[in-house]
Formats: sequence, C-alpha cells, structure tokens
Amino acid sequence: MKIGRLDKKIAIVTGGASGIGEQMVDLFSKEGATVIAADINKEALEKVNQKENVIGMKLNVASDEDWAALAKEVYQCFGKIDVLVNNAGISSEKPYADINLDDWQKMLSINGFGSFAGIKHVASYMAKEKKGSIVNISSYTAQIGQGFNHYSASKGAVRALSKAAATTFGKSGVRVNALFPGIIETPMTKGLSTSKELVGQLIQATPLQRLGQPEDIANAALFLASDDSSYITGAELVIDGGFSAQ
Ligand SMILES: NC(=O)c1ccc[n+]([C@@H]2O[C@H](COP(=O)([O-])OP(=O)(O)OC[C@H]3O[C@@H](n4cnc5c(N)ncnc54)[C@H](O)[C@@H]3O)[C@@H](O)[C@H]2O)c1
Repeated sequence: MKIGRLDKKIAIVTGGASGIGEQMVDLFSKEGATVIAADINKEALEKVNQKENVIGMKLNVASDEDWAALAKEVYQCFGKIDVLVNNAGISSEKPYADINLDDWQKMLSINGFGSFAGIKHVASYMAKEKKGSIVNISSYTAQIGQGFNHYSASKGAVRALSKAAATTFGKSGVRVNALFPGIIETPMTKGLSTSKELVGQLIQATPLQRLGQPEDIANAALFLASDDSSYITGAELVIDGGFSAQ
C-alpha cells in the first residue's frame, strides 16, 4: 500500500468548504491526513462532513473564542495538531475611494486577525509536540503594487505575520511559511468570468498563459505541510504563473 505524504497527520484547513481550501481538504485527506475543514459556512460544511477522513467544524476565524475552542477540541480529540492552513478569507471589489473604516476593520479582522489567532492558538499545541507546519495564504497583491485597498493591506499583514511567526516558533519545532497565489479560478473570483475580454487580457499578461487553479495552490500547500519541507520556514512561495516576476 502506498504511504501518503501526510500519513497519520492531523490537519486543520480554514475556509475548507470552498475553492482553494476545499481542494486542500481533498488532497490532504487523499494523502493520508485526517482533515478538519473549518469554515463559517454551515451549509457548505454539511457537504464536507460526507467526505472520508474529513470533519467539518464551524469556525469564524475572526473570533478569538472560536479559535480557542476549536484548537482545544482538536488537540483533546487527537492528542496533536500537525498542520494548520490559514486559508479562510474574503475579498472586495470596492474602489478605494469608497472604502471606509468599517470595510477596513471587517477585512483586517477576517484576513489579518483570523490568521494571527490561528497561529496564536494552534502553535502552542504544536509546540507541546515540538513539531508542526503552518501555511498561511497571502496573495500576490502583498508582493507587488497591485490593489490600493484593504484586501492587499490584509494580505500584507499575513506576509509580515508569517515571517515573524517563523522566527518566534522555530525553536519550538513549528515551521511557518506563506503562499502567494495569483488569480485563481474559485467562487471568490467568479465575477471575472462574466467578462471574457478581461479574462483574455489577464491570460495574455501571465507568462504561463493561463489563470491558476485551486490544485496549483493545494499542491504547494501539501509540500509545505509535509515532512518534505522539514528545513523550510519563513519562506515565501509565489504561485501566479509568473505574473509578478515581470
Ligand atoms: N481566488 C484567488 O484568486 C485568490 C488569490 C490570492 C489569494 N487568495 C486567497 O485564498 C484564500 C481562499 O480563497 P478562495 O478563492 O478559495 O475563496 P472562496 O470564497 O472560494 O473560499 C473562501 C472560504 O473562506 C470561508 N470564510 C470566509 N470568511 C470566513 C470566516 N470569517 N471564518 C471562517 N471561514 C470563512 C468561506 O465560507 C469560504 O468557504 C483566501 O484567503 C483568498 O484571499 C485567493
């Protein structure tokens, strides 16, 4: 029997009920992990709960209390947490002139605090076992001047947090790395598909001449989650078909 790359590991994937997160949940479970798909969308979690080796759990990543309860429950149930992917997030199409403080705070609460709280609560359990891998999903907009708005600011926060957490938790055996997706075809970007012209322009502007797919990100997350990357921490991996290399 083939041994999976995440054999016997316990993994938490936030935003695991849709898009990139859903793809990670499926890939991680296929590679032998028991996966906790944590999401705010209760309806979508019902579908998730039907999958083999996947447990759907309700979580609002912007809630410190939710995080404390989920991390405790998973640790008590399985005796360890090997992998955390901070993937849950929201985006916005609002032009910068219309963005107000409420918009800013909501975005930073979910995308910024959500990742911070995940690391805060889960890394301490990983540290008890002296082992763990955390993968944070930022965005190419945190790498280049693309998007003067609250979304890119929130993803910049994720970028900074990842490096700082890597240095803070390295001695405890916990690795922290970040992925920077370009435009990936998921429910988050479905608005794009209404304009064939725009999609064509984006493809033209991308060296690899296509948009990204959820599996492009899930495959990279699998590598960082697995022991194949055991000497990698604080790293940044851009997955955008070469867009930001130009
Ligand atoms: N799709 C892209 O082009 C792209 C590009 C760069 C980065 N990203 C990032 O990748 C991640 C996944 O995006 P996606 O495209 O799969 O989006 P998606 O909308 O398909 O999925 C996001 C998931 O997060 C969940 N979620 C939202 N708010 C939550 C909260 N407060 N608590 C818990 N769960 C919550 C949603 O219910 C959903 O299941 C996001 O962080 C996004 O910013 C996406």
